[in-house]
Amino acid sequence: MEHQNDIRLVLNGREVAVKDVKATTTLLDFLRLEQRLTGTKEGCAEGDCGACTVLVGRLQDGALRFETVNACIRFLASLNGCHVITVEHLSGPKGRLHPVQQAMVDYHGSQCGFCTPGFVMSLYALWMQTPQPTEAQVETAVQGNLCRCTGYEPIVKAALAVNQYGTPANDYLNTERAALTAQLEAIQPRTRVVTGPEDDRAILPLDVTDLAEVLAENPKATIVAGSTDVGLWVTKFMKPISPVVFVSHLEELKAIDLTDEALTIGAGVTYTESEAAIREAFPHLVEYWDRIAGWQVRNMGTIGGNIANGSPIGDTPPVLIALGAEVTLQKKDGARTLPLEDFFIDYGKQDREPGDFVASIRIPRPAKGQIDAAYKISKRRDEDISSVAAGISVTVADGTITAARIAFGGMAATPKRAAGAEAALVGQPWGEAAFDAAAEAVKQDFTPLSDWRASAEYRSLTASNLLRRFYLENDADKPGAVRLAVA
Ligand SMILES: Cc1cc2nc3c(=O)[nH]c(=O)nc-3n(C[C@H](O)[C@H](O)[C@H](O)COP(=O)(O)OP(=O)(O)OC[C@H]3O[C@@H](n4cnc5c(N)ncnc54)[C@H](O)[C@@H]3O)c2cc1C
Ligand code: FES
Ligand code: FES
Repeated sequence: MEHQNDIRLVLNGREVAVKDVKATTTLLDFLRLEQRLTGTKEGCAEGDCGACTVLVGRLQDGALRFETVNACIRFLASLNGCHVITVEHLSGPKGRLHPVQQAMVDYHGSQCGFCTPGFVMSLYALWMQTPQPTEAQVETAVQGNLCRCTGYEPIVKAALAVNQYGTPANDYLNTERAALTAQLEAIQPRTRVVTGPEDDRAILPLDVTDLAEVLAENPKATIVAGSTDVGLWVTKFMKPISPVVFVSHLEELKAIDLTDEALTIGAGVTYTESEAAIREAFPHLVEYWDRIAGWQVRNMGTIGGNIANGSPIGDTPPVLIALGAEVTLQKKDGARTLPLEDFFIDYGKQDREPGDFVASIRIPRPAKGQIDAAYKISKRRDEDISSVAAGISVTVADGTITAARIAFGGMAATPKRAAGAEAALVGQPWGEAAFDAAAEAVKQDFTPLSDWRASAEYRSLTASNLLRRFYLENDADKPGAVRLAVA
């Protein structure tokens, strides 16, 4: 098949074509080592500190959309057809400081300065989207940025003041939007892209049909969507991953379809992209979504990637299993759909045949009388992986529990349903006795491991207490009451 063998992007307004791009070259290395744009810093190289934050602009449904990403775990090849904006490109009128930079200066938001470019980029994205943010919105925007010097307060004050220094309507990304959109339209791929040496090959299929073809030709290829897991395999574990098939540019994997029956989301939909539909169809998940990673990672990371990696501590599988989600896998000869819980066979083993890719996830909308909850227990509130995650869905009719789906992450080698706890509830009258029995039964459902996140005893007690919490939060007779078992 005819193919393009270079990566074409716009960097700070200038079109760049790079030949022979290795699949594992990160955007950060490209910026710092090849382009000498050293304003973007390397702190952790694992998506945690935000020092490497840049903006990536891409066309979605014909519209130009800019969002923050971590350059340290984003692969350059995945940015074919995108616009990268680094801190060097920010400027105010007549070469003065940009409003975000001036606010950071005036409010003493920078001390040693190492984190500053990353914060500036996150606050720039926030100001463009929400010029007059609340304190809570500022905190969400900088969830993925760490500062060891300032104690954050001056940065939050600067963020709240940016709009006094200038309005987004006058910003380059808005005044030049039409020209920037045309510039990106001109470099959108018309064929498959194949670049890099044999042992570090990057392939960008043209569309989903081509993806199936590429995977049939390369059944052992590594699929990369947001690279928020795979990026670390490279930067931390030096793992060879060639050939790499990038999918984050495939619009067909970004479809979101919300009907009266179900929400169907393409595997390539990011956490950020799914927020509006989640808010509408599953409001109980809104706060939980906000606790997945930080803003930059949510802008890149996909629900498909979270499922496909098969991690026992991924946040979406337990809550989606509890909601009765199904996953559709596709390959060249067709597609098959299975209950999400059946996808996870064992630790590191999923029901994926050679050439299969995750295409979409379907989540049925809650039935009448269904009460849903999602809980994440982690050491830090933000930007942390779960010690225990739980999805609980209980259906009640005329005071009797008619159905229960309870799934946990962090309790077994895979995300798993709590069969004993479910059985203890179904057929029982809604009430404390049923949930006390379920809270005891769940201890027999799992034999969790101890690790540095939590001990086995802690995990077991937490799972048990989450069932009691669910009851207390949802019992009309005890509004707001919290009474947890301690032993
Ligand atoms: C700083 C940081 C914080 C994080 N915090 C959290 C957190 O709080 N909770 C949490 O659950 N996770 C967290 N993660 C992990 C990660 O962000 C998620 O697992 C994310 O959903 C992965 O999606 P991705 O698109 O980036 O996947 P990728 O890294 O691109 O891929 C992950 C895996 O899925 C496979 N894959 C991707 N797409 C497909 C597809 N369509 N078909 C088949 N296989 C596919 C890849 O081959 C790989 O095995 C964090 C990561 C970082 C770096
Ligand atoms: S260097 Fe820390 S998030 Fe990229
Ligand atoms: S100013 Fe020093 S790390 Fe933030």
